[in-house]
Amino acid sequence: MSGMDIDTPIKNKGKEKVFNLAAEIDNLPWVEKYRPKTLDDLVSQDNITSTIEKFIEAKKLPHLLFYGPPGTGKTSTILASARQLYGDKFKSMILELNASDDRGIDVVREQIKNFASTRNIYSSGFKLIVLDEADAMTNQAQAALRRVIEKYTKNVRFCIICNYVSRILPAIQSRCTRFRFSPLEKEQIEDRLQVIIDAEHVNLTEDGKEALLRLSKGDMRRALNILQACHASYDRIDETAIYNCTGHPDPKVIDRIARWLMTEEFTTVYTKIEEIKRESGIALPDIITDLHTYIGVIDYPAKSRIILLKNLSLLEYRLGEGANEQIQLGALVGTFKLAQDNLA
Ligand SMILES: Nc1ncnc2c1ncn2[C@@H]1O[C@H](COP(=O)(O)OP(=O)(O)O)[C@@H](O)[C@H]1O
Ligand SMILES: [Mg+2]
Repeated sequence: MSGMDIDTPIKNKGKEKVFNLAAEIDNLPWVEKYRPKTLDDLVSQDNITSTIEKFIEAKKLPHLLFYGPPGTGKTSTILASARQLYGDKFKSMILELNASDDRGIDVVREQIKNFASTRNIYSSGFKLIVLDEADAMTNQAQAALRRVIEKYTKNVRFCIICNYVSRILPAIQSRCTRFRFSPLEKEQIEDRLQVIIDAEHVNLTEDGKEALLRLSKGDMRRALNILQACHASYDRIDETAIYNCTGHPDPKVIDRIARWLMTEEFTTVYTKIEEIKRESGIALPDIITDLHTYIGVIDYPAKSRIILLKNLSLLEYRLGEGANEQIQLGALVGTFKLAQDNLA
């Protein structure tokens, strides 16, 4: 179990203990500290939480299959469900496993067996096994898992979590009720973020928040991790702070680079980009990714744009294969010159 119960133990302890615990909680990553405790705390995925709530009310939980991109609340949903199902003793009723455990399916199977066969003293109901990253399992391991699921269905419910449902054997899929988690909307991340901003007294400017939401791309974990990292190093978090913290190029910098590429002479652009790369520590592949979105808005004829798009994709590929950055920077500048020659 990665989550730490941060509210229950504090109440009954002496002052000193409270202080220590508080310090410990302060050191927790915010993604753990602010993990939603109840299904109601989860923003979005409303249809999923309401369906699961019905299962819980009826005390009839099927095997579950959660899939979708990272940071959308898959793990949080099953942990909150377990809390709702079992109350405070939920930790003894749930086993979290990483299915891609490199010790192999045999270890996983052994852990499941031990957990499933120990009698539970508190209640007569089923226990819960969470298998994270199930899509990293080989087909063979999944076939073994299928048999394990069948064998223990009487007293255990499985919750299988993955990013790509297509990588899960149909035989496993058909034994589970499937739920698709979608990336969170900007407004949903913003709402939840505000709770944490207030609680931690984060000084986030409006443009800083915009940049943060843009870079998070619907991934709440990413949003929280960036925010915490920035909060640790900046008193006031603005757009520039966010970009500095993530190592992602500031749009203003990309703006400048694009302008140079379109107007300045070869050697001048080359030196200027070299300089800016050194100063701000941004990498050429990131510059190319961001320049790519630029091609859509510049006022070039189709022919020139095609030259740019084609060559940028080549550059990206070469850099991915480990080509020399200086030579590729030369090629980038050259590509823009070539596009300019084809303006008429
Ligand atoms: N729908 C959501 N509502 C509120 N917080 C969320 C939501 N999804 C993710 N989070 C936040 O992001 C963190 C990571 O979420 P998690 O459930 O582990 O994502 P996943 O398992 O889908 O990768 C959580 O600690 C929580 O703070
Ligand atoms: Mg998860």
